[in-house]
Amino acid sequence: LGYTRIKSSYQEVETEVTYFVPMEDDLEIWRLEIHNKSSAKMNLKVFSYIEFCLWQALGDQNDLQYIQNIAVTKMQNNIIYYSTFDRKPGFAYFSSSQNITSFDCDREDFIGSYRSEANPLAVENGKCFNSIALGGNPIASTCSSINLEPDEKEIIFFVLGVTDKIERAKEVIKNYHNKAYVDNQFEKLKQSWESYLGNLLVDTPSDKMNLMLNVWNPYQCKVTFDWSRYVSFYETGIGRGIGFRDSSQDSMAISYVLPLQVRQRLLDLARNQFENGNVYHVYFPITKEGGFPDYSKPEMPFFSDDHLWLILATCDYVKQTGDITILDEEVEYVEGSKSNLYNHLEQAIYFTRENLGPNGFPIQGTADWNDTLNLPGPNNAGESVWTAMQYHLALKELSELSDRYKQHQNAQKLFQLAKRMKDHINKFAWDGNWYLRAFTDSGVPVGSSKCEEGQIFLNSQTWAVISDIAPFDRAIESMENVRLHLDTKHGLMLLTPPYTRFYPELGGISTLHPGLKENGSIFCHTNPWAIIAECKLGRGNLAFKYYLQIAPPTRNEIADVHRAEPYIYSQMIAGRDHPKFGMAKNSWLTGTAAWNLKATMEYILGVRPTYEGLVIDPCIPSSWSHFTIIRRFRNAIYDFDIKNPDNVSKGVISIMIDGEKVEGNKIPDFRDEKKHKIIATMG
Ligand code: GLC
Repeated sequence: LGYTRIKSSYQEVETEVTYFVPMEDDLEIWRLEIHNKSSAKMNLKVFSYIEFCLWQALGDQNDLQYIQNIAVTKMQNNIIYYSTFDRKPGFAYFSSSQNITSFDCDREDFIGSYRSEANPLAVENGKCFNSIALGGNPIASTCSSINLEPDEKEIIFFVLGVTDKIERAKEVIKNYHNKAYVDNQFEKLKQSWESYLGNLLVDTPSDKMNLMLNVWNPYQCKVTFDWSRYVSFYETGIGRGIGFRDSSQDSMAISYVLPLQVRQRLLDLARNQFENGNVYHVYFPITKEGGFPDYSKPEMPFFSDDHLWLILATCDYVKQTGDITILDEEVEYVEGSKSNLYNHLEQAIYFTRENLGPNGFPIQGTADWNDTLNLPGPNNAGESVWTAMQYHLALKELSELSDRYKQHQNAQKLFQLAKRMKDHINKFAWDGNWYLRAFTDSGVPVGSSKCEEGQIFLNSQTWAVISDIAPFDRAIESMENVRLHLDTKHGLMLLTPPYTRFYPELGGISTLHPGLKENGSIFCHTNPWAIIAECKLGRGNLAFKYYLQIAPPTRNEIADVHRAEPYIYSQMIAGRDHPKFGMAKNSWLTGTAAWNLKATMEYILGVRPTYEGLVIDPCIPSSWSHFTIIRRFRNAIYDFDIKNPDNVSKGVISIMIDGEKVEGNKIPDFRDEKKHKIIATMG
């Protein structure tokens, strides 16, 4: 994990190049191994090539000619440096561990006229032109000669890095031209992933689930936590920094293993809150500046859900780690005043309370979880039923946390507010067979059987169950309608039927092609919410069916349809109404990773953290008769052996902890750095 290796073989020359970023330095290392497989001596030339990206991502897009007159790329003491004329940004550099016999810094010289990277002039020539770039398109290419005896191997190291000072680059490069040092760095990278993954080990009857939970799902969770929806293959990092709601959700999947990082992230997020409880939609990790996206409504620069995620993420963190002291941390508001994290959470509630619309549901602002459900209009009165459900959960969670924080009066108050909102939703947002999704600016219901299009939305059904809004019969009815209307062989669609024309009162959602993104695709992020809902209802076979539908190993079996990487989740899969039904898009940076890990670990396999310890409450396919989980929880290892002799989906009838029979399904917080054996029997 954490590296890329490419092997090739041509005319009895075998090469293998490994690319990785070491844990300790700001650079990427390329380890190239060349093997002469022939029975003759070989004299080879090795060319490297990298094209530097330019320094100012946005300026370079809209004023490319400028950077092309300030870029400087030069060779100095066998290192190629790239900077700008004023050297303000520092340096990028590139080096080779081999003796460099020629080099190029200017793309046009290396490639030559009327050519491309497929047939660069320098390579045909057998040597580079020793060009420097004063302006132009900066590259780094080195040429070295190597002589190999039959069956001889040679290893070359290339280093691509960034630094403030040239002197620092020189020191760092010395290390990375040394094989033992590089091998050691690679080992450290490996160990870091192994120790991260070693916190969870499952063995279930499903190979697909085992593969995902033991390796790929936690791996993707960490990558997503680190990058949010920031710079990546899909995002430029301009305008879109660390997403407030995205990172809150990503945090929930890894606090059991990286509590310190999550703690810091939650405090960084809280620093993006205004005194009135509203929050910035994004912040930029390097400058820590917060912001709102371009499409924000200027008169309502808020999203109805963003601030509430901080409550859900903090409660989750405290349950996972037991660290209630995080609530005492003093954190600045955007305006500069300070308050502890607990008050920040209270302010989040306050913001929603103060911004309820004419029907008593949270005002949508720019959007809610669904970035494209903008509900614009002259009254600024669009309302989100889904956010009301999220608000209800946040109230309940904060109420429970307040009790643990010895704020009993507050806990009571929040509990009452929750109750009121629950009744309100059940009274005014039940459409007859399922829950409504929203109200437009002029008060028209969205997600109703009476709508022309967009009659049923997934999120308001799943969250009615997740947040304990729906009484049992309504819960079953709405989830049955999910199965009936939204389920497909490629996963659950976000809504149906998708919008086939622009609806001014809905906004962005109706500008997307039917079946793509928020307009009725299988928006993968929301599928684990259906898994959680079905587990809460005890329907393990259905939950597992929903799990398998979008699981990468399943998608691998139809790779030609799926098209994205078969080992990680993608943001979306085209829905039934799109001609490319089943095609995935935007892999890697998606909340799907975090929520699937949560849905599987905590609801299907059923090991869930609470403030006091763990509960064991699986909801599995009835065909399973046995599974095991070994996981870290706070400072101890819990080794579960779960038997299902009667082939039920839910229900634990007995547990033994370290050889002693225990009543109920609660497992204490041992915090003793020891391993504990839990044998549970379902029935
Ligand atoms: C993208 C965004 C996320 C949003 C979702 C639905 O995944 O990153 O914040 O909730 O789209 O609009």
